[in-house]
Amino acid sequence: MGFETILTDTRGRVLLVTLNRPQALNAINRQLATEVIEAVTRADTDPGIGCIVLTGSPRAFAAGADIKEMQAATYAEMYGGDHFAAWDRFIAVRTPILAAVAGYALGGGCELAMMCDVILAADTAMFGQPEIKLGVMPGMGGSQRLARFVGKAKAMEMCLTGRMMDAGEAERAGLVSRVIPADQLLDEALKTAETIASMSLPIAMMTKEAVNRAYETTLTEGVRFERRVFHAMFATEDQKEGMAAFVEKRPPRFSHR
Ligand code: CAA
Repeated sequence: MGFETILTDTRGRVLLVTLNRPQALNAINRQLATEVIEAVTRADTDPGIGCIVLTGSPRAFAAGADIKEMQAATYAEMYGGDHFAAWDRFIAVRTPILAAVAGYALGGGCELAMMCDVILAADTAMFGQPEIKLGVMPGMGGSQRLARFVGKAKAMEMCLTGRMMDAGEAERAGLVSRVIPADQLLDEALKTAETIASMSLPIAMMTKEAVNRAYETTLTEGVRFERRVFHAMFATEDQKEGMAAFVEKRPPRFSHR
């Protein structure tokens, strides 16, 4: 399938996905959503890809769901089509996904970034959930993920007022892992992705699953899950290789399978 609203580029073991609807500040219409989900789910079954980078343009990561496309929708259409449910396939991707965010990440754009595993922000990034100004609320997980990631006070204020958070505030609040000068964002994101992709792919997938468990379950259950997965890692060749390489003072040669 050829893509029209995104660009894809494979760089070694990293898949770079660039949202590409500049005329609409990368607003997420049905086509863009379908294409992003298709690109990442396809990469997820490709053992040659060890990490995915999702990015937008310098002006906007994505300015939200496409308001013009949604404007006339009826309740029957939204409910009947279970609008936004397709993003469950994005969440199910096991390959680590890194969001490189410059400019606006608003509404569905902020929510898409939060569906990724790591957010690196340019110093130009602006995060917000302004849906309330349109007479709606977040619909791609924002009311839940923002509250879990930055806490209730900030999430509630942002969702109720539509106020944006700049990159510095987002870093202090724990929404993004690092703030990077805008002109270095993509290089730094690709470098971080290459580091992740150089690890054992199954071990990285299990690690992603374990960290995500922290948002899904109790501490006791999460710690038990972590311990069981840790035990299971001793059934992999990569555990033997990684530890042997350390002892033999050489770089590991992971299987990536
Ligand atoms: N949907 C559709 N088109 C959008 C869009 C969106 N979310 N955001 C921007 N655009 C379009 C604009 O309509 C404009 O198109 P035209 O040139 O044809 O008029 C073009 O992109 C450029 O935008 P602006 O002229 O508005 O640019 P600006 O620099 O003046 O403002 C902005 C930038 C502050 C991001 C402003 O565009 C804006 O407020 N956008 C909407 C943000 C928003 O409300 N997002 C939430 C959407 S709803 C949602 O996401 C629901 C959910 O939870 C999934």
